[in-house]
This record gives sequence, structure tokens and C-alpha cells, in this order.
Amino acid sequence: GKRLIVTIDGPAGVGKSTMAKRLARFLAIPYLDTGAMFRSVAWKLGQGAWEWPEADIEKALSGVEYALSGVGEESVLALNGVPIGDEIRTEQVGMWASNVATLPVVRTFLKKAQQRLGEKFSLVAEGRDMGTVIFPDAPHKFFLDASVEERAHRRFLQLEAMGKPADLKELEAQIAARDHQDRNRAVAPLKPAADAVVIDTTEMDREQVLAALKEAVA
Ligand code: C5P
Repeated sequence: GKRLIVTIDGPAGVGKSTMAKRLARFLAIPYLDTGAMFRSVAWKLGQGAWEWPEADIEKALSGVEYALSGVGEESVLALNGVPIGDEIRTEQVGMWASNVATLPVVRTFLKKAQQRLGEKFSLVAEGRDMGTVIFPDAPHKFFLDASVEERAHRRFLQLEAMGKPADLKELEAQIAARDHQDRNRAVAPLKPAADAVVIDTTEMDREQVLAALKEAVA
């Protein structure tokens, strides 16, 4: 049958991954964490790569392939056969990712990889430009938002659960800086698609957000 694409965009720390995993479980399809694609590229290229000549970045990316398997929370995204691990889940790598994400050469490369996965699988795809650029024809588009204080708090709890404790105030500043860069870049800036359902989750708990998403796709 025809593949189903659901997009979830929004700023850092809003809970996109958690919601995408759970909605994907409900729909029995894979979820695609496109932030992990940008983070893994940043991690692979290393600090400062965003200042390399375009040709060097292109060359470094030429051997990179992504594969997706599993559904719901069990979805696994692998880079050249190796599942992407938690080493990319720091705010520092998040900022590296945001830096490489400003580069057209990186966005063009990942756009192809993301759209190829969308041709192969039904997806709940989460990121910054899923509804605007990558899957403009998706029948269900969401944009999740929340205050920066609330998002820093959510990310704080998430990092703590991963055994990577962080400073709350520092996190808030880092998240605000990253959002600013993501919203203001020239290519594929963070913003809701014109036809996205925008949900301010600041005062909502996870179950309420999930219920709203399920209801909208049902
Ligand atoms: O979602 P996550 O925090 O893992 O994303 C890391 C960074 O990757 C974001 O701050 C953003 O700059 C970039 N990104 C993007 N487009 C996407 C997903 C992530 O530019 N679709």
C-alpha cells in the first residue's frame, strides 16, 4: 500500500523524539530522528568541519549511508551499518550539528538520504524542516513548541536519565542559542509548515500531547 508520512518539527528539547517514537509505535511504523543524522555527520566530521571547503565536506560524506530498521521505540538508525549511539546526545554535539546544518552541502546530502528513507518506509519523521522542505506533501504535520525554560527542564531530565547530568541554566542558554541559529539560518530554517498543526506543549504532559497527536492522525 501507499506509505504514510507524519512530520513532527519543533525546537530543541520540546520532546519531539519521545512523541515521534510513541506515535510511531501507535501506527506500527518506524520513526526517523533526523537530528541524529545531523548530529552523526557533525560527530563524524569533527569539531570545526563547518569551516572546511565545501569539496572536502562533500568528499567526507561520499561514503556515508544510513539504514533504518524496526518500528516505534525499537527503530534503529545506523550509519554505515553501525547503530548511532548516545555519544552524539550532548549539547555540545547538538551545537556542532546546528553549525553543520547551516551548510547547503550537508542539507542537500541529508535531504536525499531522508527522502530515500521516506520512499522505502512509512515514517514518523522528526526534525526542523520535515514539514516544510523534506516531506511537503505529508498528510499529517505537527509543530511542537514550548517555552525555553520548560524545554531546558525536559532536556535536563533526559540527560540525567542518560547519566549525563548538566547545569540547568547553562542548558537553557545553550538551547536558546541553538534555536536562534536554527530559526535564522538561510536554508531550511526552523518554522512551522503553513499546514502544520501547532501545539504549545508548555502546560501539557506527555500523555496529553500524545493523545492530541493520536487523535489528529486517527
Ligand atoms: O533534534 P536535534 O536536537 O537532535 O537536532 C540537532 C540539530 O540538527 C538541530 O539543532 C538543527 O540545527 C539540526 N537539524 C536540522 N534539521 C533537521 C533536524 C536537525 O537542521 N531536520
